[in-house]
Order: sequence, then structure tokens, then C-alpha cells
Amino acid sequence: MFASLSLLPNDPILGLSIAFQRDTHPNKVDLGVGVYRNASGVTPVMAAVREAEQWLLREETSKGYTPPDGYPGSNQAVRELALGLDHPALAAGRVATVQTPGGCGALRLAAELVQRASPGAQVWVSNPTWANHGPLLGNAGLSLKEYPYYDFERHTLDFDRMLAALQTVPAGDIVLLHAACHNPCGADLTPSQWQQVTDLAKAQGFIPFIDMAYQGFGEGLEEDACGPRLMAKQLPEVVLAVSFSKNFGLYRERAGALLVVGEGRSQAEAVQSQLLSVARGLYSMPPAHGSALVATIWQSEALREQWREELAEMRGRIQVLRQSLVGALAKAVPERDFGFIARERGMFSFLGLSETEVGRLQRDFSIYMTDNSRINVAGLNQDKVDYVAEAVARVLNG
Ligand code: LMR
Repeated sequence: MFASLSLLPNDPILGLSIAFQRDTHPNKVDLGVGVYRNASGVTPVMAAVREAEQWLLREETSKGYTPPDGYPGSNQAVRELALGLDHPALAAGRVATVQTPGGCGALRLAAELVQRASPGAQVWVSNPTWANHGPLLGNAGLSLKEYPYYDFERHTLDFDRMLAALQTVPAGDIVLLHAACHNPCGADLTPSQWQQVTDLAKAQGFIPFIDMAYQGFGEGLEEDACGPRLMAKQLPEVVLAVSFSKNFGLYRERAGALLVVGEGRSQAEAVQSQLLSVARGLYSMPPAHGSALVATIWQSEALREQWREELAEMRGRIQVLRQSLVGALAKAVPERDFGFIARERGMFSFLGLSETEVGRLQRDFSIYMTDNSRINVAGLNQDKVDYVAEAVARVLNG
């Protein structure tokens, strides 16, 4: 049976960690997989999460199945976090919500839902987009199209070309957007650009599908949710995939959620029932631990405040690292402008290097990043900034 299956290469992003672990270079730098690291190079368990875990350990009395839509209280937490307390779509009862195994689970569940509603529907993804969007959506049977998003020469959002392409998207197609901290380029829509895309969606009848994996890593918790909140207010249908991997540091717990905003209460109820049925056929129910932590933190004012502060600290650290890297690159490579790195947001930016140059950085300097020169700024450290900048200079200058 399996003799016909060939050996596949490692995943283009996750495979970098394996190569990095094996590398014995004393100065090796991992700018590959998108995980946050603190000044000691550790991906920390947030103190609020630690406290919530201790509380759960004391209070949890059973490991019985959770309800299929997720751990009690976690759906309310995610709705309030993503859409805000007073969002009219929540008041109107038009938001279906289920917990999912991480953001990937949410993306895949949404793709399966779309496939049920409109088999083979077209999903438009930004060029570039996260490498795993293709498999997560395409393997559900959806067909993928691209719209221009990033100007690789000027290192800016190419909004005019994006809008022009979206003007050709027919009614009933899906358009995948990144809520904030675009992965892989770090260039985000401004509030007024969100409004323009919303107006276009309304005029043309395409359905926004928003991937929100970095809420709180860009400008702030409220600011990073501006697009989803606006669209959920003004459009009849919006899909929102949420991940808690980064903002709660719950990577391995696979905590996430899918919110689907429908035209009214009865549509949301139908969607909710469909989501539960899709999930039942895929993995039955999501893991409880991560969403239990999110719910526990959200329900305690003190823990919530502590979590907000820790998140703000992480966001601040990334911004400082962005500035430091720009400064170091300005010294090491004065002929090239890397100022865009400080203007971009979230974990990622492109350095703008060729695949060969990326290969040299890895081979000669043990600096790891994806082939398209995407760096995880949140994986950097102040004591590695000069080393990275000088290595980039060496590679660029032959
Ligand atoms: C990334 O883009 O590096 C992260 O989202 C981790 C992943 O699963 O790819």
C-alpha cells in the first residue's frame, strides 16, 4: 500500500528548527520559525499563564469531555478579545464560535465549512502569504488564487495593485486577509485601507476570511483587531480564524478559535451546527488545556491585566529589536536602506536577499531564515544584532 509514497523534504518553516538544533556553531542564530524569545533566548511561559495553570491544577475536578464547542467560558473570552465587548454582531447573536486546535485548526475548519457551503470555492490569498495557507485551504478542496500585496522592491504594501486585483473578485469568492503583523512581510493595512477593502467586499459580495494570529504583537490589542471588528460590523458574512499561540505563548497547547459572522441569528446557528459536525468528523473536539487557560485569564481581572502587561512588554521588545537591527544594518551595509524593518510590525520582515544569499548566511554564519529571506525578528537578541548585520554585509558584498 505505502510503497508508492515517496520521501518528502522537511516542512520549509518547521524544518529549519531541526537543522538549527543540529548546528554546533557557537554563534548560531535562529530567525526561522515564528516563536517569540525573550532576552535569554527562551520562549517563556507567561506569568499569567503559569498562574492560571496553577489555579486549574487546584480547581479542575475532571478530565471528562468538554462541550464540543470548547472549554466553558473560552468562547466568550475569544469573542470579547477579538471583536470587543460591545460589538453589534455579538449583540445580534450572529457570531458562531468554536474552539479549535490552534490557528491552523481554525483555518482548516473554516476551509471545510466553505467547501460544504460552496464546493471548490475560490480563495484569494495575498502574494506573499504564510507558506501553510496553501496546504490548509487547498487540501480541503478550495482553489487558490493570488492578489498582489507587497512591493518587494520598495518594501511597502502595494495597496493600489491589491485593490485593483480585488476589484476583479466575483461575488461568493473568499479573500484571505491578515488581521495584523502580516506573515511573512510585516506590512499591514491602515484603518482607512481596511475601510476601503470593506467597501469593496460590500460592493462586490466577496467574503473576507481573516487570519488573526498576532493580536497584540503589532500596535496593540485593540488596534490589531481594527480590521476584523470593522468588517464584522459592516458586512453580512466574515470568517475569523484566531490563534493564541503567540499572544498567550501557548504554541504547543494548540489553542485557537474560529468565529463565523453570519447574516443573522438563525444563519449563525446553522453555521454553528455545521462547524460542530465538521469538527466531529475531523478531530471530535479541541484540546481543552490551552483554551481553559485563556478562559481562566480572561475571567480574572488581575490575571487579565498581568497578561496585557506581559504582552505589551513582548510587543515593545520586538519594536526595540527592529530599531536595533536597522541601526546595525545601516552601519554594516550603508549602501542599502533597511529602514522598512522598523516600519513593519509583528514578528516578520523580509531582508530582501536572494535564496543563494540566504543559503550562504546559513552555511557560513549559521544564521537561519526561510528561503525567501523572511526573518523572525522576535527570535533575535541584542547581542546577536551586530553579528547578523555584519554577516548580511559579508554576504551582500560577495
Ligand atoms: C511561522 O510562520 O513561522 C509560524 O506561524 C509557525 C508555523 O507554524 O509556520
